[in-house]
Amino acid sequence: MVADAQRARTRMVDALREARRVRTPAVENALRSVPRHLFLPGVSIAGAYADEAVAVQFDGPMATSSASQPSMVAIMLEQLDLQPGQRVLEVGAGTGYNAALMTRIVGPAGRVTAVDIDEELVDRAAVHLASAGVDEVELVAGDGALGHPPGAPYDRIVLTVGSDDVRPEWVAQLAPRGRLLLPLAVRGSQLSIALDLGPDGLLRSSSVRSCAFIRIRGEGASADASVCLEGVGLALHVPEDGPDPDLAGVTAALAEPGDLVASAVSLGAVDVWDGFGLWLALTEPGVCRLLATRAETGLPDDLLPLGATGGTVALASEPGNPLPGIAAVVPVPGQERGRGPGPVGVRSFGLGGPALAARLLAALERWVAAGRPEAMNWRFTVGPRPQGQHERLQPGACAVAKRHCQVLATLPPP
Ligand SMILES: C[S@@+](CC[C@H](N)C(=O)[O-])C[C@H]1O[C@@H](n2cnc3c(N)ncnc32)[C@H](O)[C@@H]1O
Repeated sequence: MVADAQRARTRMVDALREARRVRTPAVENALRSVPRHLFLPGVSIAGAYADEAVAVQFDGPMATSSASQPSMVAIMLEQLDLQPGQRVLEVGAGTGYNAALMTRIVGPAGRVTAVDIDEELVDRAAVHLASAGVDEVELVAGDGALGHPPGAPYDRIVLTVGSDDVRPEWVAQLAPRGRLLLPLAVRGSQLSIALDLGPDGLLRSSSVRSCAFIRIRGEGASADASVCLEGVGLALHVPEDGPDPDLAGVTAALAEPGDLVASAVSLGAVDVWDGFGLWLALTEPGVCRLLATRAETGLPDDLLPLGATGGTVALASEPGNPLPGIAAVVPVPGQERGRGPGPVGVRSFGLGGPALAARLLAALERWVAAGRPEAMNWRFTVGPRPQGQHERLQPGACAVAKRHCQVLATLPPP
């Protein structure tokens, strides 16, 4: 059993290194030294060392806690750039596995405090950590939206749970030049963004990756931005700072499919969501995401395969438009389907659809001409929301208004 686990762990870390998820000796050594299966009792050795997230708690069909996918754990540890002796706060202790890894990296002179909102999970994490012989983690049951002031300031604050906002408590509890790493929702994408605190109080990104985390509960929770469209098997997600969607207009338009115009562009699932989709959401008004809520949807063509079902990006008419419509990126039918890139086109719906389709096709071409930017190419600056007057933005910059902050997105030239 112990030898099997050791072999499986070696294979897992070798594969993560091969895939360049693990880049530094500090992260590699931590992953090699912490037995992940001890944090997942009841899960087979193969399951504990597969490159997959393992859900450990549910609310109905929804997972409320999981051990994150090892690839994502490694990517975030690299983004965090931990150094021996540092003080770290983790929001989302979960199984305790990530806290154990971070403890190995910061060493005896450092300190890891891990908070989880669920007391039962904290109790279980304590048992896992003890069985792995990691007794240095300070576990706290509480709402990590508020940080954990008694341990502040922290050199690093890391959320392993998705947030819609950058809360002032986290910024206040960061040490000068500290780093906040969090899965942040940005107009329909979730991005793991490493933000460095500058002397001017602004946070500037040093690294950005795509991710998909469970959403935060408690004080930091916000309503799900996806709304089900009546009878069509689709949910509509609109940007957090955009106008309310025209649900009736979009639903009616989806019942009137128009032509599919093929483009010369090929997209894979990640391209459509965090490549083209993110770029579109940060450069064009009226962007929305369509998500399948059941296998058969109101779209006449398959959606792009994303996760267990499917989804796509679209441009929708604004509320009050006398010609409601929507135009969506769809795979070109008759092509081999898979998770890899495939040719896409644009399908219009409703009277306003053709004009939106023309805009969407032109945007696809502009995105390709810009070098097909991905999540990692964007830079983000987080600061307070501007008061009063509209501020002037640099050309090409996009300001995303959150409740507690403003996120400024820019795309440096390639
Ligand atoms: C993806 S899991 C974290 C995985 C964990 N890092 C590990 O290594 O197993 C997300 C966790 O965030 C916790 N969570 C959700 N909202 C929270 C909050 N407001 N404060 C602290 N933890 C929270 C959940 O209970 C869940 O355990």
